[in-house]
Amino acid sequence: MNYRHSFHAGNFADILKHVALMRVLAHLRLKETPFRVIDTHAGAGMYDLKGDEASRTGEWIEGIGRLQGKRLSAAAEAILAPYREALAALAPSGEIYPGSPALIQHALRAEDRASFNELHPETCKLLRRSLPRDERLVINEIDGYTAWKAQVPPRERRGLVLIDPPFEKDDEFARMADYTREMARKWPTGIAMLWYPIKNARAVGRFEEALQTSGFAKLMIAELHVDNSAEVGPLAACGIAIANPPWKLAEELTTLLPELSGLLARRKVARWRVDWLAGP
Ligand SMILES: C[S@@+](CC[C@H](N)C(=O)[O-])C[C@H]1O[C@@H](n2cnc3c(N)ncnc32)[C@H](O)[C@@H]1O
Repeated sequence: MNYRHSFHAGNFADILKHVALMRVLAHLRLKETPFRVIDTHAGAGMYDLKGDEASRTGEWIEGIGRLQGKRLSAAAEAILAPYREALAALAPSGEIYPGSPALIQHALRAEDRASFNELHPETCKLLRRSLPRDERLVINEIDGYTAWKAQVPPRERRGLVLIDPPFEKDDEFARMADYTREMARKWPTGIAMLWYPIKNARAVGRFEEALQTSGFAKLMIAELHVDNSAEVGPLAACGIAIANPPWKLAEELTTLLPELSGLLARRKVARWRVDWLAGP
């Protein structure tokens, strides 16, 4: 287990994932009934963009660095708003980048709950330190897939599972697809959001096929390409798959991604995609 998110925090992949996360949470907040968020691979919670690890890759400079101080069109900004608002509240200096647990905590209301699961002991310690004490949260030092299986369905029967593994192992796509199938059986109305790298088109194609038959009636994907993707070298494209996406999310990402991909493109090569694997 070598992966440290601090090298990558605030890069283009975090932006796609966290913008979509904040939109899903904004939609969940529209109904009064409480919800629960289960973050299976939570990470450290807060990242120092001026620290040694982030500085060594500089990935954030071509990610959140390009969004800082830049306004997109009014339509795109309306979609970015919950993400922008959370960043302004959690990290106003722009020198810290909040990870998924901090963003989720920020979006919870008094009756909502979240569980953050992180297997790496040191990272889990950092996570506990980075979040203010909060009775709405549970932090577990545990395998994320075990947590996904054990914590679904939550008592509230409303909410989201975020699955954001490090992709250090060859079978990560297959495991994600298997556990998605299991969730469709146990909690067919829950929202699942899975992040994945796009390096090998065939592996992604097989993953999409597996998701098509996972049992969820509605499942969409959104991709962000900031360069031509290659199996080796720096990550240039990634996707998110969302089971039971909130109404309008596909439309919102279709409005945002043309501008966002243009802004984040390396060498002017940018592409995006929003598609349904099941349903609408
Ligand atoms: C991509 S990072 C998570 C980033 C975080 N979700 C965010 O958006 O800010 C993946 C995390 O998973 C952790 N991890 C690796 N294997 C794990 C496992 N089997 N179960 C839970 N966490 C794991 C890593 O230590 C790392 O912190």
